[in-house]
Amino acid sequence: MMKGAAVLVLGPLFVFNVTFDGFFPAFASEAEKGKKLYEEKKCGLCHRVAGKGGKMGPELTDEGEKRDRDWLTTFLKNPKGVVPGAKMMPVKGSEEEITLLVDYLLSLKK
Ligand code: HEC
Repeated sequence: MMKGAAVLVLGPLFVFNVTFDGFFPAFASEAEKGKKLYEEKKCGLCHRVAGKGGKMGPELTDEGEKRDRDWLTTFLKNPKGVVPGAKMMPVKGSEEEITLLVDYLLSLKK
């Protein structure tokens, strides 16, 4: 009974989400676009979000609670300028891509 109700409620939501993302990428939120870039740029090779990803870099699961927009933007462009001796390479990408990545990182909260 409860299970059936959950499928009824969640089913259409799920379908809506997939359709929305797949057919209207222009309407995806900034954070969702940033998430795609995060995947394209393979940030997950070194970083974990909610348990998924590599271990070379720090976990980013609650990055949005730890850092602000300025810090993240400066760090992504030039990690060594913010964290002396940083091992991460500067992120290659346009100003817009960096902004979208930061939008995604800021959305990460526990
Ligand atoms: C080759 C491994 C590697 C890759 C790939 C990588 N990082 Fe990192 N990242 C690190 C390491 C290591 C640190 C810790 C600081 C340092 O030593 O540079 C770090 C630190 C960070 C931090 C700061 C965390 C904090 O609050 O202190 C952010 C944000 C971040 N990375 C985002 C990204 C994003 C976004 C990408 C993809 C565009 C990415 N990283 C790709 C290794 C990596």
